[in-house]
Amino acid sequence: MAYLDGPGGTQVPAEVIEAMSHRLRVGTGNLGGAFGASREADAVVASAREAAADLLGGRPEEIVFGQNMTSLTFALSRALARSWGAGDEVVVTRLDHDANVAPWRLAAADRGAAVRVVGFDPEDGTLDLAALEQALGERTRLVAVTAASNALGTVPPVRRVADLAHAAGALVYVDAVHYTPHRRVDVADLGADFLACSAYKFFGPHSGVLWGRAELLESLPAYKVAPAPSSGPGKWETGTQSFESLAGVAAAVDYLASLGSGDSRGERLTSALAVIRAHEEGLATRFLAGLAARPHLRLYGPADPTRLAARTPTFSLEVAGMPPDHAAALLAEQGIHTWSGDYYAVGVMEHLGVATRGGLLRIGFVHYNTAAEVDRVLEALAGLAG
Ligand SMILES: Cc1ncc(COP(=O)(O)O)c(C=O)c1O
Repeated sequence: MAYLDGPGGTQVPAEVIEAMSHRLRVGTGNLGGAFGASREADAVVASAREAAADLLGGRPEEIVFGQNMTSLTFALSRALARSWGAGDEVVVTRLDHDANVAPWRLAAADRGAAVRVVGFDPEDGTLDLAALEQALGERTRLVAVTAASNALGTVPPVRRVADLAHAAGALVYVDAVHYTPHRRVDVADLGADFLACSAYKFFGPHSGVLWGRAELLESLPAYKVAPAPSSGPGKWETGTQSFESLAGVAAAVDYLASLGSGDSRGERLTSALAVIRAHEEGLATRFLAGLAARPHLRLYGPADPTRLAARTPTFSLEVAGMPPDHAAALLAEQGIHTWSGDYYAVGVMEHLGVATRGGLLRIGFVHYNTAAEVDRVLEALAGLAG
């Protein structure tokens, strides 16, 4: 089996599975009780916040958990939009997954605010910064941008985007779902005001993580029920969290850290992500070289093997004469897991003009993939030549 569908969801290491099943096996309790299992649930949440804070470079009190990135983004968008009105504007991009577009569109529509859309260069998948500058104005309230495209692999210059947005007085919401398994996240370096990711894309369970600047999380009005605290990250967490998933989130961060070295977990994560990045760049170089030798495969997005800093090892392509669904099905028959269609990167497919012909075929590597798997998929793709 070759799991080349990491951008859709990564495989889970044994220690994460063990942490989750342990949590259920030892007996469960809800938060805030006087008995052991309840105290342990409190401890699980606290340790998951610490782990996620280390992963993202924030503080534990700035970490909010939720069902997934999409739900967290909907919650934040509704809260932020309460102060928007007619004449206000939000900026979204065509590079983004729809989870970082639709919530902002809907929130803007609720408040009579306008949405401005920034495109990208269809030749190399680069975000159009000139268009971004033009889209910004004194009424821009928020810029929603991806840290890495789950379709083309593009890594936009988020820090530059954030600086431009902040100069216009806007907040910045970063979608780091695709970025987190590939790069060291540092919310301060990225210049984010909010950043969301999903543990099932970084070797953990199906759980969403949102980081927000403490003063913003504190001052914004959350849609909450009475028992939820009125202060701290808990005010954003609706109902009862999945404690077994939170145990898995912490274990996934520890798993990632175990791939690096250093005294603190933060240092180990920095070192691990450097090792991961070097390995993935090797895979990307090999895959790009293989594609260049196979003219029936057309790559969309960043193709320059000397500019790997500008991409993750996620590739969207077209197999000449074959719909992407068909190609993915033939690869699956050979035990090679890939994805086809738009992978919810709706704007990407529309902008590239491939939406009406079934989207593209996506092959996404992560650190557990090997050079042998790169060769295997290239050979299988060669066999698809019409
Ligand atoms: C880049 C990106 N953003 C957002 C999402 C949505 O994440 P979730 O499933 O946690 O809502 C995905 C999921 O595929 C994604 O790849």
